Amino acid sequence: MCGIVGYVGPRESQPILMSGLARLEYRGYDSAGIAVIDGEGSLGMRKRAGKLARLSESLDEAPLGAGTTGIGHTRWATHGGPTDGNAHPHLADDDKLALIHNGIIENFSELKAELLEQGFAFRSDTDTEVAAVLLGREYRAHEGDLEAAFRAVARRLDGAFTLLAMHEDHPGLVVGARRNSPLVIGLGEGENFLGSDVAAFVEHTRHALAIGQDEIVSIRPDSVRVTDFDGNVVEPQSFEVSWDAAAADKGGWSSFMAKEVSEEPEAVANTVMGRIHDGAIVIPELEGLDELFTGIDRITILACGTAYYSSLVGKYAIEQWARIPVDVELAHEFRYRDPIITERTLVVSVSQSGETMDTLMAVKEAARLGAKTLSICNTQGATIPRESDAVVYTHAGPEVAVASTKAFVAQITALYLLALHVGRLRGTLAPSIADEAIEQLETMPGKIQWILDNEQERIEQLAHWMADTRSVLFLGRHVGYPIALEGALKLKEISYIHAEGFAAGELKHGPIALIEPGQPVFVLVPSPRGAATMHAKVISNIEEIRARGARIIAIAEEGDAAVLPHADEVLRIPLASPLFEPLLAVVPLHIFAMGLATAKGLDVDQPRNLAKSVTVE
Ligand code: G6P
Repeated sequence: MCGIVGYVGPRESQPILMSGLARLEYRGYDSAGIAVIDGEGSLGMRKRAGKLARLSESLDEAPLGAGTTGIGHTRWATHGGPTDGNAHPHLADDDKLALIHNGIIENFSELKAELLEQGFAFRSDTDTEVAAVLLGREYRAHEGDLEAAFRAVARRLDGAFTLLAMHEDHPGLVVGARRNSPLVIGLGEGENFLGSDVAAFVEHTRHALAIGQDEIVSIRPDSVRVTDFDGNVVEPQSFEVSWDAAAADKGGWSSFMAKEVSEEPEAVANTVMGRIHDGAIVIPELEGLDELFTGIDRITILACGTAYYSSLVGKYAIEQWARIPVDVELAHEFRYRDPIITERTLVVSVSQSGETMDTLMAVKEAARLGAKTLSICNTQGATIPRESDAVVYTHAGPEVAVASTKAFVAQITALYLLALHVGRLRGTLAPSIADEAIEQLETMPGKIQWILDNEQERIEQLAHWMADTRSVLFLGRHVGYPIALEGALKLKEISYIHAEGFAAGELKHGPIALIEPGQPVFVLVPSPRGAATMHAKVISNIEEIRARGARIIAIAEEGDAAVLPHADEVLRIPLASPLFEPLLAVVPLHIFAMGLATAKGLDVDQPRNLAKSVTVE
């Protein structure tokens, strides 16, 4: 939530800031702004409500003075609506100092009252301006020492924040601070960068440093200095970004979402790659960490949004193969209900961004209660893996569209790898079952590709015909149930249509009252070979709603002829064992949501009100 970029070096900063913001726009897109210290040493600033394009137009019409030190911000509004005035940067110290912020300053009212009383004035409704004005005051109190002023400010703030600031008096210096919000350093040759994530600077450098919790960083063209809030120097952890800028470009695709759906086969393949050796699962990141899995009696998975649904799928596999009870919880619900967690609990968090505040806080709470923690994450250098005892990365590559697609299949893949790993360690997994599962995993990319090659056009056509639909229901059983939930979420997120997912067996206990003639219902039909009983039950569920006029769109495996008389449309997926069907069945639902939003003329990458990385609670 909110994208942040900073630059110091020999080059003109404005194009670097603007292209960094373009890559970070998925984090928030209701306003944007930049500040630059120009060649004369004076600070110029421009900010606009609306998408980044509006800021860009404004800068084209009236350019800021050229300068080589700058900061930029793209906003997802929390305190104060999305107006020009509330956009960042915020200025202080007679407009010589500019500050940008991601997060929420929880004690801003109290600080604002203190500053108002001292005669300071405010021009916005934001919590951020309080930090800017406070920094201006501390800058004077610390006689122009920006770092010392920053430390004083950071110690006064409650809540979550990443702050970047610069001052006219110090061209060639950008100072940042972070607590519970993301910030990474990009190391260049004679230039340095700061960003909410590596996307901000990956086109310039892939050498990065992760900044820890409660740390302050100062970047200059030829140096980087990180300290804690007390001023003690700390050594940041370095890492190489594993993807290049092209991976985060749209390429020739109409949208990032279209590109990312097309990358679902690769996301699964890359997540499996390097983790199968001589027919057995070997997860290099977990080497030497067997005690994470052997001394436990329960696994709790914490996640939000799409990651929560992939986690629900993961529960089936872990319980089946590792024979250990698994609870899956929405991270924001977990924290406040006095959860029963012991040192015999393994808490697994699942997060594409690794920055979701709800998930981060829940992981911290679990660790405080004594649990062992493992993160499944798609983003190197992110906070949640850093706060966990272990991490298994998904290798979906950068995901830019707000609605998560390729990360979802990569998360299921990682959870399955984990389930097989734990099952082997605990001795609950028969070798023949493990062999079959590994074989299934390896065939998944090809099967997903088959759906994209053979069914995508037809699904998009169907979505086009349904562009005026006002409500869609999704039904599934067993592992099909979380997929029904994911199908409904995706449709809500990007096409703003009322959509709900139900467990097929639950329908008769209430939701069936929603069925009226013509109501479209997607039904995930289990394999008649692998899950004959469930197949029959789902066909019965279909008949119950067809009798009441529902229009059935079945997702069924190739060759399932029994479904034909019961459905108005049948979308085909290749054959797979029951536990692996989710990796296939979700693909038509992702395509459908995207097709319908496109048919309605909506922006599938940046849906209204949402942000990809939600770094506030
Ligand atoms: C936001 C996004 C969702 C995403 C969820 C969890 O709500 O809009 O698409 O699934 O956050 O994100 P995470 O990065 O933790 O997987």
